[in-house]
Amino acid sequence: MLRIVVINSKGGCGKTTISTNLASFYAASGHHAALFDYDPQGSSMRWLRSRPAEEAGIYGVTANQSAARATTMSWHLRLPPETGQLIIDTPPGLKGSALVEQIKGADCILIPVLPSPIDIFATADFIRDLLLEAKVRQTRTRIGIIANRVRKNTLAFQALERFLRTLSIPVVARLRDSQNYVKASEEGLGIHELKNKPVYVDKMHWRGICDWIEQRPSSTVKEKMTEIEQPDDEE
Ligand SMILES: Nc1ncnc2c1ncn2[C@@H]1O[C@H](COP(=O)(O)OP(=O)(O)OP(=O)(O)O)[C@@H](O)[C@H]1O
Ligand SMILES: [Mg+2]
Repeated sequence: MLRIVVINSKGGCGKTTISTNLASFYAASGHHAALFDYDPQGSSMRWLRSRPAEEAGIYGVTANQSAARATTMSWHLRLPPETGQLIIDTPPGLKGSALVEQIKGADCILIPVLPSPIDIFATADFIRDLLLEAKVRQTRTRIGIIANRVRKNTLAFQALERFLRTLSIPVVARLRDSQNYVKASEEGLGIHELKNKPVYVDKMHWRGICDWIEQRPSSTVKEKMTEIEQPDDEE
């Protein structure tokens, strides 16, 4: 089973959006995905409760930090044995021992970042904490960045790209700023499951993220290169 932690101490950067879309993309592709919500706001579990019964099922668990400490080793015993991917949504503001606890045993860490100066500074600090304080070894735990809410031809996007080039961490995807993410989150769906708005380029983003997680050579490199050249769907 792959343990995938979606984390950034910066609030509002897309942790829940990425966790829920990843879980639903895996589920819709025929995998047995589980979603753990460590955020007391409970947004991932609210999303899961609103998920239509006819969509592929996801095993959800409401978790919390103190329970994590008490049951670090027993949490996985409660998961269905066929679970292939465990996706962990985390709260904002994690640091110190809480951060260490949250990333324990992770196979992959996904860090969403928004194109704004405040988010870039906060993420730079978070990555420093991850590598220096929590001592994550990139040889054992793979770390990937997801640039989120990207808008082409903006100064903010160019600044984010400059920041990303300074990191020794791969950029796994650049997700568009799209109201379809907001719609999907209200309906308990992943963006790829929106019935009237199947957007090819968005599906390719999620396939590319799964390829990276599973360490498959990406079939979507070409699409990833051109992704932000695509016209926006709803504007
Ligand atoms: N790519 C996107 N395009 C448009 N809206 C987005 C996108 N990603 C996230 N959002 C919206 O941004 C807001 C914050 O996203 P989200 O809740 O996923 O962040 P978070 O990191 O989980 O926040 P918190 O730190 O509070 O848990 C939500 O309203 C969400 O719908
Ligand atoms: Mg959240």
